[in-house]
Amino acid sequence: MKDLYHPFLVGEIIYLRGLEEQDLVGSYFQWFNDQESDVFTNHAVWPNSQKKMRAFFDKVADGRSDLVLAIIDKASHRHIGNIGLHDINWQHRHAKLAIIVGEKDMRGGGRGAEAVRLVTGHAFKRLNLHRIHLGVREDNTPARRAYAKAGFQEEGCLRDVFLSGGTYYNVINMSLISPY
Ligand SMILES: CC(C)(COP(=O)(O)OP(=O)(O)OC[C@H]1O[C@@H](n2cnc3c(N)ncnc32)[C@H](O)[C@@H]1OP(=O)(O)O)[C@@H](O)C(=O)NCCC(=O)NCCS
Repeated sequence: MKDLYHPFLVGEIIYLRGLEEQDLVGSYFQWFNDQESDVFTNHAVWPNSQKKMRAFFDKVADGRSDLVLAIIDKASHRHIGNIGLHDINWQHRHAKLAIIVGEKDMRGGGRGAEAVRLVTGHAFKRLNLHRIHLGVREDNTPARRAYAKAGFQEEGCLRDVFLSGGTYYNVINMSLISPY
């Protein structure tokens, strides 16, 4: 089997590595232009641009308030998505989780759930964070299940906060507290 390329956190079916400049071209760019795929998020409202991608990459590479990792499918070695901890608050030891499996044919195979488990384990064991939280649109079943499998608990509901196609959706707040 081909060696893993720059592995950082290794799971059974995927591994996570740092985002690299070469990732900025290719299908990664299009994940954020996909109207169907981005229906649960605020992506694909404005067109993606190289400028935006570069600004995001530079912010992540230089700072200590975001940790963004590429999700790589172990079998195919494809870069299939990203997972990140954002707004890391070192004083109160919490961060916000975001994930996208941008390659649609790679969804539903347990890869997203494994990425969530790997990154939250790293957040608690190595970054010494205490709490990871996120908001998820109430009808985003795959995301809610992936988070629940990693131990996230629902802690509240923001009513009518997401407007799409003339319908208001609730957003569920979820969080995971460190076991350590
Ligand atoms: C949310 C997302 C990251 C999940 O990744 P994934 O690799 O597809 O998820 P997994 O295969 O690990 O599945 C997680 C759970 O959801 C279930 N699931 C997956 N696709 C599903 C679907 N279309 N309908 C219902 N359940 C589904 C899986 O069965 C699994 O639950 P189970 O183990 O209890 O059976 C991915 O779907 C995605 O990128 N979506 C678009 C972006 C997004 O919504 N990001 C999250 C914003 S909060």
